[in-house]
Formats: sequence, C-alpha cells, structure tokens
Amino acid sequence: MDRYIAPSLLAANFANLQHAVELVNKSEAGFIHLDIMDGLFVPNISFGMPVIQAVKKIARKPLDVHLMIVQPERYFDKFKQAGADWLTIHMEACNHLHRALQEIRELGMKAGVALNPHTPVSSLEEIITCTDLVLIMSVNPGFGGQKFIESSYEKIRKTKNLILSSGSGALIEVDGGIDLQNAGKLFQAGADILVAGTTVFNSPDIPKTIHELSSAAVL
Ligand code: DX5
Ligand code: ZN
Repeated sequence: MDRYIAPSLLAANFANLQHAVELVNKSEAGFIHLDIMDGLFVPNISFGMPVIQAVKKIARKPLDVHLMIVQPERYFDKFKQAGADWLTIHMEACNHLHRALQEIRELGMKAGVALNPHTPVSSLEEIITCTDLVLIMSVNPGFGGQKFIESSYEKIRKTKNLILSSGSGALIEVDGGIDLQNAGKLFQAGADILVAGTTVFNSPDIPKTIHELSSAAVL
C-alpha cells in the first residue's frame, strides 16, 4: 500500500507561501492540502480562489482542496478553474451528495467526501462507490493545531472494511492532529493519505519531516 503525506498550507507562513510550496515540491509529499473555510460551516475563515491560483502556478504536486463551506456545489467550476485536482466536500454540508460527487467528477477532478468526527462511517454506504476519497476528520474542522481524536482509528478500520466489501477504489485520508507519534498507527489502521499542518510547517526541516511522517513506524 502506498503512503502519501499531504502537507496543509494552513500552518505555513502566509507571508511567504512560495517558500513553503517550494519546500513541499522538493519533498516526498504526495499532495498539497488546501483548507477552504467560509466562517459558516466552520467558525473560521481561511482563503479562497486567488490563493489556490497562486499556489497552482508554482506547485509540482496535485492540489488536494478540502472545502469546509456550506453549499459547496455553488463553486465547483471555480475551484476547477483555480487549479484543484482533488475536491473534497463535507457530507454534513451537502443535501445532494450523490449529485455533487458526480458533478465534481464530470468537471475532471477527483471527488472526496469528508466526515466530521460525529458522522458515522455507515452514512457512506450508499455513495462509497461514487467517491475517490474518504476524508476522516480526526479533529473538529476549523483550526490547525488541535488534539487528535483517538476514536479515529476505529473509524478508519470501519471505512477500510466498507471500501473492501463494496469494491470501491476510494482512498482514505485522515486530517487533524497528525504527528510522528500517531502517523505509523494511522497507516497501519488503513489510511492512505495523512494531512499534516502543524507537524510539517513548525518543523525546522520540512522535507525531512515529510519523509519521517511517510515512513513512520507503529509506536
Ligand atoms: C482543520 C483542517 C486541517 C488542518 C490540520 O480543519 O482541515 O487540514 O490544517 O492541521 P494540523 O495538522 O495542525 O492539525
Ligand atoms: Zn483539511
């Protein structure tokens, strides 16, 4: 099983995003994770299209865009134009998830579904074969630097079982509170992609930390 790290730019120095992207470019990272927050779905506002466009111009990794916004379907084409390669929407933010996932795919992006900590894995049953990615939130979304929720391991295992039993090819991404202590165990539980903001961008050697996360052993 391949292991991917998706550094979240939310924890980077916004006054020097170019430097952050260049360090990720030369690392083993599989993606660049961009957190879009609207102050409604989550109690925080981050950034929007102009920042994604600017990052796209210099990124040499696929852009993994995580939408924490209400009614995300209003903007799918705009995110595509801005440079999103993978577009993940929250189950809790979407009344017509099946249609929304189809629309993302029809625009030529990979489609993902994110679950808040309170949302059960069973809610994926009817759409698991319509999605390219399941994002398990291992913190309540809205902020970087929060504490990892331990029950996320069990959620990953349940999601993995659902993917295997349904024949879906979806990848499992985990987001929030990921560090060098829990990364190995998360991969072992079934995660394919780990998002890490604080752990990556607060470290003195960003490419090295990305390497350590991706090769982390079970502690
Ligand atoms: C939280 C975001 C995360 C966040 C992770 O709402 O979805 O992607 O940037 O940050 P850390 O790794 O610091 O928990
Ligand atoms: Zn995220």
